[in-house]
Amino acid sequence: MSSEKIAIYPGTFDPITRGHLDIIERGSSLFDRIIVTLAINQSKEPLFTLEERIEMIRDAVKNIKNVTVEKFDGLLVTFAAQKKANVILRGLRAISDFEYEFQMALMNQHLENKITTVFLMPNEKYTYLNSTIIKDIAKFGGNVERFVTAFVAQKLKKKLEGKM
Ligand code: COA
Repeated sequence: MSSEKIAIYPGTFDPITRGHLDIIERGSSLFDRIIVTLAINQSKEPLFTLEERIEMIRDAVKNIKNVTVEKFDGLLVTFAAQKKANVILRGLRAISDFEYEFQMALMNQHLENKITTVFLMPNEKYTYLNSTIIKDIAKFGGNVERFVTAFVAQKLKKKLEGKM
């Protein structure tokens, strides 16, 4: 059995933010490999297509050697098993995240006991971010470059101007 420590970092990433990136960077120094996992989440209506979101994540992580990007549809624990990952990486930003994360971590553990959820806290300057707030700021012409990469900021601008 391989002793490589592989973690998956799941989310909708619509779009990836500096808060997500902060968690990925912290995780990349703790695990041998991080697979950023784009969930095809049926309950959300994303602004960006799957391909656009993957392109933005790939660009954001291009300088981190042990990080790859994949998409998946279905149960997270099934995908983790396929990838031989034994850790699900999640960010905890505030108390408000706790209940939902607690429920997901325990349910995932119930579904597959070998999987452990590891929570990391992003730098405090990113604790109040989420993708919806960033889309709102961009929609009304605010500057989002402190919260997303320059590439994502440019994609947001184009998308919201209807040029993409
Ligand atoms: N920095 C900034 N924003 C962050 C963040 C961070 N570190 N971490 C999370 N967020 C934001 C996200 O962008 C998202 O914003 P939005 O709601 O405005 O789009 C919000 O916080 C919630 O993110 P998250 O909790 O990661 O939800 P998600 O929808 O991105 O991902 C899955 C949830 C994919 C992990 C979950 O639905 C899943 O596992 N699905 C697979 C099916 C399955 O196995 N279900 C059973 C699970 S028990």
